[in-house]
Amino acid sequence: MKTLLFNCQTELGIRNILIKDDQISYIGLGKSEYDEKIDCHGFTLFPGMIDTHVHVRDLEMTYKETWETATRAAIAGGITTIMDMPNTKPATIDLEGLRAKRLAALQALVNYCFHLGATENNLTDIEKILRKQPADVAGIKVYLSSSSSNEVVRNPKILEKIFLIAYKYDKPVLVHTEQQSILDKWFSHTSEKSIKFHSLIRNREAAIEGTKLVLDLADKVGSKLYLCHVSTQEEIELIKTAKKQNENVFCEVTPHHLFLNENIIPEVGNIGKVNPPLSKKIDNKALFKELLNGTIDTIGTDHAPHLKKEKEQSYLNAPSGFPGLETALPILFTKLREVISQDETLHIISTLFSKNPADIFKIEKRGEIKTGNYADLVLFDPNKKWKIKSQNFQSKAKYSPFEGMEVQGKVVMCFVNGIKYENQGDTKL
Ligand code: NCD
Ligand code: ZN
Ligand code: ZN
Ligand code: ZN
Repeated sequence: MKTLLFNCQTELGIRNILIKDDQISYIGLGKSEYDEKIDCHGFTLFPGMIDTHVHVRDLEMTYKETWETATRAAIAGGITTIMDMPNTKPATIDLEGLRAKRLAALQALVNYCFHLGATENNLTDIEKILRKQPADVAGIKVYLSSSSSNEVVRNPKILEKIFLIAYKYDKPVLVHTEQQSILDKWFSHTSEKSIKFHSLIRNREAAIEGTKLVLDLADKVGSKLYLCHVSTQEEIELIKTAKKQNENVFCEVTPHHLFLNENIIPEVGNIGKVNPPLSKKIDNKALFKELLNGTIDTIGTDHAPHLKKEKEQSYLNAPSGFPGLETALPILFTKLREVISQDETLHIISTLFSKNPADIFKIEKRGEIKTGNYADLVLFDPNKKWKIKSQNFQSKAKYSPFEGMEVQGKVVMCFVNGIKYENQGDTKL
């Protein structure tokens, strides 16, 4: 099967792209034979997005999300590869957990790989899995605090051992940096436990101190360090400095930490409860500046679906996190286009949401529109204006802190390994 995408706007300029079976077989201005021709005039073609940070759930939490619903959501959002987080039930912390996940993931409509969870007791399990170098393990995830049904690593000696294993098997260590001891301190010091004080209770100090700790450890051990969901100005400044002398430090930012802050909490309540918390306007500014400067390596959605009913419980009972797969690309495109040109916007999105994740996690033949690569492509209408309406989400989590936001740019069609998916969402303005 040969599909010709005719007259696409790409980072290279206007091009015709030929998809042959599951690969990109030609990029150029010339003609070629085809079975189907798609006129892409006026549309932009992105490489498929690669999301490093997705909580698919499934297994014992199918009520929150499944591999089918999550990957439908991914396609709707232009995301063609996802990396799944280990805080599932059962957790992906040993071979048994990994096997269970592999079975569930057979439902996936997009490409995927898994992050293995490190705990204080599973180092031999992790080594056992990594010794065989399975291609579907992307990295090792460590939580320095409790966030959402995850295990915590508090012991610095064990943390160092995890970094050593990561170094030995050449896998990045991904870290949720909020430190438990600091969260505990602030929790006991804050008398009123309500969503209004979430960013005080889960104080920024926790992520800042955790970031210092793991930056030092990465220097000492030499392993690849990947800092998840950087949310404060202090962290990004520490990371910027660290990157000058350690090329193995990478960091991810989420759309919500870039573009939302605690000012929305009175309006959205627990819908906006997330870890690390939505922070301040100065943090949005600092993160966006460093995104434009190239300090930030990747965009991760931290798609963390929970039932709306669960989010409507009291502050302490409501789980943290919200869906993000379907909103990340249009929001990013909209916000970048407000300040930079279309060409620069294409370049930044393709780099942070596709090329860099592929490089950091060694995903081969993806991450770029290139002959010989798999045909993971996103046809995008850069002029379409619409409003985010979570009732139209493919995800089971039908709510969003971005609800009602007017965005420009919409995924029209997605190719995953050459398989075409048309977007039929009726999210019109
Ligand atoms: C995530 C979840 O629900 O799995 N929640 C969140 O608030 N981000 C866990 C996490 O990424 O910390
Ligand atoms: Zn996290
Ligand atoms: Zn997460
Ligand atoms: Zn580029």
